[in-house]
Amino acid sequence: MTVTIMDHPLIQHKMRILRDKNTGTKDFRDLVNEIAMLLAYETTRDMQLQDVEIQTPVATTTVKELSGKKVAIVPIIRAGLGMVDGMMSLIPAAKIGHIGMYRDEKTLEPHEYFVKLPEDIDKRDVFVVDPMLATGGSAVDAINSLKSRGAKSIKLVVLVAAPEGVKTVQEKHPDVDIIAAALDEKLNENGYIVPGLGDAGDRLFGTK
Ligand code: PRP
Ligand code: URA
Repeated sequence: MTVTIMDHPLIQHKMRILRDKNTGTKDFRDLVNEIAMLLAYETTRDMQLQDVEIQTPVATTTVKELSGKKVAIVPIIRAGLGMVDGMMSLIPAAKIGHIGMYRDEKTLEPHEYFVKLPEDIDKRDVFVVDPMLATGGSAVDAINSLKSRGAKSIKLVVLVAAPEGVKTVQEKHPDVDIIAAALDEKLNENGYIVPGLGDAGDRLFGTK
């Protein structure tokens, strides 16, 4: 299992604006999608290719094309929804599954309330998307849910990861690669990522 922290300058610059408490809902939403698109580039790096012969205007040549392994993007509702359009802009043929999960504010325990996945989830490369990997409870439960329904090839794509969340996912799901835009310092006593960006769902949807 690999953990990839994207250090591309464009991502770091966009993350700087995203983290700023003065960034409003519209800009926040646009940035989440833009960073998700850049993360999709890294997430798809090991997609299988096959040779195909084509005719350019000048000559016949053998080039590479995607070999057609299908993808499912699975946002953890709510905040994961903010990353779907960005991911889809690079992988337009992907199917979308949904897992609804909320974290109890006191116990920090995740609670699943909705699951709807493509029927052939077992045959797809599954990219679970959620801006925040904090304790890791939500991601671990979402991946449990996917595996119990047959998913075999899973990657977890997040914007901000806490070391605690990375460790938990690595322990519970050593087969799952993690791709993150940033790895932060720690969790605070309320389970928020420090320095983080606050409550991703509330900032995306303007609910606070
Ligand atoms: C946030 C976030 C993750 C979860 C991360 O969702 O989007 O799903 O917390 O925390 P964890 O790693 O400690 O489980 P939240 O539960 O706030 O729900 P929301 O997206 O509906 O706001
Ligand atoms: N969920 C969030 O939205 N933000 C955090 O910092 C932790 C969990």
